[in-house]
Amino acid sequence: MDSLSNILKKVNQLDPIPMVIHKVLGLADDPEASLKDLVEVVERDPAITANLLKTVNSAHMGLPVKVDSVHQAVSMLGLQQVVEMVLSQNLSGNLNRSQKGYGLAKGDLWRQSLAVAMVARTLASQRDLMSLPAIYTAALLKDIGKVLLHEFVADRLETIQKLVAQEGMSFVEAENDVLGMDHTTLGGIIAKQWQFSPHMIYMIENHHLTNPASRNDPATATLYLADMVAMMVDTGIGVDRLAYHVYQDVFNDFFPDKQQVKSLMITYKSFQREVQGFMDAD
Ligand SMILES: [Fe+2]
Repeated sequence: MDSLSNILKKVNQLDPIPMVIHKVLGLADDPEASLKDLVEVVERDPAITANLLKTVNSAHMGLPVKVDSVHQAVSMLGLQQVVEMVLSQNLSGNLNRSQKGYGLAKGDLWRQSLAVAMVARTLASQRDLMSLPAIYTAALLKDIGKVLLHEFVADRLETIQKLVAQEGMSFVEAENDVLGMDHTTLGGIIAKQWQFSPHMIYMIENHHLTNPASRNDPATATLYLADMVAMMVDTGIGVDRLAYHVYQDVFNDFFPDKQQVKSLMITYKSFQREVQGFMDAD
């Protein structure tokens, strides 16, 4: 069986990305764009607006008044939170499934991705790195390759795990060795198909910092660190847990004091509770 061509055939089976996502990311990156432009882009899509307002008005949000427009939502919650709601609501379809090959039940990958995205955005804002919606989106989509690769991983899991345990390979390296493809490269192929920006594709492709040059890209390093922090907390989730290389120089660069890693782990746990609160309210 030519597993590589079978894997690639599956790329077209994913749900497409709504155009509003690209527009929101484009505006978030454009210094000329106004708040009004962003509100209009969302309001032009009635289904997306309705979904957003449903969440904004949910009991979980606990707002004292009923919110009737995107503009009002932005003035009550702030632009960043509204943009994140739009992004997460419209990117969940492909990720909120089970990925049995990775030992992930339905909802595991999505919940983890949401909390990682919140950590990545927090870290990025501390360092004034780049468009926060872009890094938030990259964190949500970083493991999109797993959505297609999981069934192939399931078939060869024992061999992949043997390479990790006996040869010291990372899970990504072992995927590549056994399947001729890994979830980071496949994620990049999917992001390209979805016409994301070159930097978005780069961040997804390199979120485990496999390419040494990516360790010098602050946004990609941020994504890697947020993911590693999540794995350090979620020690029981997924077959690939912590089977990735630790680049100590990247950790040292971001966290000169080891205590900072610990406090980010605590932050991650509080984001997890926030995400769970949203899920339970749904
Ligand atoms: Fe990954």
